[in-house]
Amino acid sequence: MNVLITRPIPDEGIKLLKQAGHKIDLSKHDEVMPRKELLKRVKGVDALLSLLNDKIDEEVFKAAGPNLKIVANYAVGFDNIDLAAAKKRNIIVTNTPAPEVSETVAEHTFALMLTLAHRIAESDGYAHAKKYKGWGPNLLLGTDVYGKTLGIVGLGRVGTAVAERAVKGFKMKCVYADMKPNKEFEKTFGAKRLPLDKLLQVADFVTLHVPLLPSTRHLISTEQFALMKKTTFVINTARGPIVDEKALLRALKTKRIAGAALDVFECEPEIDCDLTDKLELKAFPNVVLTPHTASATIEARQAMSKLAGENIVAVLAGKPPLTPAK
Ligand code: GLV
Ligand code: GLV
Repeated sequence: MNVLITRPIPDEGIKLLKQAGHKIDLSKHDEVMPRKELLKRVKGVDALLSLLNDKIDEEVFKAAGPNLKIVANYAVGFDNIDLAAAKKRNIIVTNTPAPEVSETVAEHTFALMLTLAHRIAESDGYAHAKKYKGWGPNLLLGTDVYGKTLGIVGLGRVGTAVAERAVKGFKMKCVYADMKPNKEFEKTFGAKRLPLDKLLQVADFVTLHVPLLPSTRHLISTEQFALMKKTTFVINTARGPIVDEKALLRALKTKRIAGAALDVFECEPEIDCDLTDKLELKAFPNVVLTPHTASATIEARQAMSKLAGENIVAVLAGKPPLTPAK
């Protein structure tokens, strides 16, 4: 059957699709497929392997026509897909929450925490700029991660993997906010579940791991920053709009918090989208920015490719998907 892949991806999933005898239309360009081209190439396909910056909605489903059975999103998140429209047409949507991906994103989250606390990015810039003239007791003083309190907002796979590193590796205390209590997690990591407001008051590091939903948009805004300690760092490797970027800029400007590390942005791919206060994230030395690369390791991206391929192979063979989006 016919499968459209909107952008080149690591090859494991592509190999699986070929082995299963499917015909692949693979974009040659390492960029988001232009909308017009997507609407043209999707016509008549049985499966679509989409990326998180492809907007998949009724217009795409209509252009595809009645053969389309599955959209396999090459991402853990699927806020780029209109699930209701897919459901109406009985199109299955899957994502790629492979265990490897959770480990990778947790690792990146931890790298960001350490970068903030130990001022790694600033120190690197300082050294590269040839400013280092000799050791000093106050040179680029940071803060420890060890022994501090980690606040996890959204205890899914990634949040759990971050907690494991924090508690076992760095002797941190752990609190979490989630709709559901997880007694097993609490026991294993000595963690405590708190309402979000309470978590924000006690956490030294606040790390976000909720999906983007109408209910999580601007979950962290002016009111929430006001609850945090002045020494708190905020880390977002989930989705940009979960943090109200304008409120974050004001919190940074007024030193309401100690700093932030962002892998995702409210108006991606723009890093700074709201310039009404003439503030830019890029201008703050205590802001660490990575360009949506939290899962960008070859291991994670191959695991995502494999799982997307497996989902398509299963559904096109009339079997249930491995990881339906829900
Ligand atoms: C990346 O952002 C993903 O959702 O996998
Ligand atoms: C630091 O370099 C030390 O020796 O204390």
